[in-house]
Amino acid sequence: MSDVQLGMPALPAKPYPAEVHARLVADAKELIGRYPVARSALLPLLHLVQAEEGCVTPTGIRFCAEQLELTTAEVTAVATFYTMYRRRPAGKYHVGVCTNTLCAVLGGDQIFDELKQHLGVENNETTADGEISIEHIECNAACDYAPVVMVNWEFFDNQTPDSARQLVDDLRAGHDPRPTRGARLCSFKETSRILAGFPDERPGAVDASGAGGAPSLAGLRLAKGEALPGTPGAKVVAPRHEGTEA
Ligand code: FES
Repeated sequence: MSDVQLGMPALPAKPYPAEVHARLVADAKELIGRYPVARSALLPLLHLVQAEEGCVTPTGIRFCAEQLELTTAEVTAVATFYTMYRRRPAGKYHVGVCTNTLCAVLGGDQIFDELKQHLGVENNETTADGEISIEHIECNAACDYAPVVMVNWEFFDNQTPDSARQLVDDLRAGHDPRPTRGARLCSFKETSRILAGFPDERPGAVDASGAGGAPSLAGLRLAKGEALPGTPGAKVVAPRHEGTEA
């Protein structure tokens, strides 16, 4: 009978080396201290171990379980439920291509296919140089900028197959491409540490996240009674107070 692989190697896992373990215990203690109940810190702890190894390994699962007095089965159940926890190591830059409905019909499917071909990898695989991993992702609530590509969860809006190819080429060449909005890129591991809840050290990163962009706010402006651009007086939605006054 052939082995059945469910995505996670068998437990029990090896512990971290002593130095790594001591460092992570200190980090975990800080994270756990932020919650009244220790197990509430499981999601941050999973990001913490992902920051160490680029994915959530059995060693990371064992570590989380030990810190939170959970079983490895309980930790595994959570780690395998949420798609941001990877079971295979991410590249330095994890490229997510949205192939959910709107992005897909506007070109996301084509971008994903052409990027896989360009990089010579399949979904959830990493290039041999360890620089780029690719994954098709679900809606990122950025449909108004479709089709979108994310690199380490920062947005690159309104992509085409050509611009996406150029993006991964620039990443591999170390050209530091700038996201359309949001902070400058850092590595996947550094991103995971920020997601665990540690300070974002990138200069200007917090300010860079900014407010909603013009496409995101267009519907709100129209709903408030603004006229369509270029068509003075042509409102698509009447403000609520209009027509209700006697
Ligand atoms: S469908 Fe791609 S961001 Fe919503």
